Amino acid sequence: MRKKPTSAEGLIVLHGPNLNLLGTREPAVYGRETLEAINRRLVALGRKAGVQVRCFQSNLEGELINRVQKAKAEAVGFIVINPAGYTHTSVALRDALAAVAIPFVEVHLSNIHAREAFRHRSYFSDVAVGTICGLGSRGYDFAVEYALTALAARRRGGKQGPRAGR
Ligand code: DQA
Repeated sequence: MRKKPTSAEGLIVLHGPNLNLLGTREPAVYGRETLEAINRRLVALGRKAGVQVRCFQSNLEGELINRVQKAKAEAVGFIVINPAGYTHTSVALRDALAAVAIPFVEVHLSNIHAREAFRHRSYFSDVAVGTICGLGSRGYDFAVEYALTALAARRRGGKQGPRAGR
């Protein structure tokens, strides 16, 4: 029987402002899939690996910061985050991630580097394990798969890739 996941093995997926509108929000840029459908897929990926994946979306900066701080108290092992508009503005959310020192992957549905100049700068990329952008919602799958592999490697006391386990 598969081992019951412990909270130390868990990972959280955080979605920033306006991502609750996925499905209807600028579909030419962000696709037609709803956030609910994406989250369902990510939870299922985790379940297959015996790891609890919890998803959280907020339009409020402070709520995202509180969720990151709570993750530390819960001993969450990995974070996947799409900071959305806060990518380009939020020193405070970046500071929260740096403060808890939980490794994270930054995800963007669109290729932020192929868009307006103000989207080219991210307050997160240099402190992230890695960044995925431009691959649509598949980017979340790749990020979660990476996180699951990193968590498994950490459990075994090993490493995966040059920066895993961070
Ligand atoms: C986004 C890109 C950001 O520039 C934008 O503000 C978003 C979504 C993306 O997933 O492509 O809200 O993070």
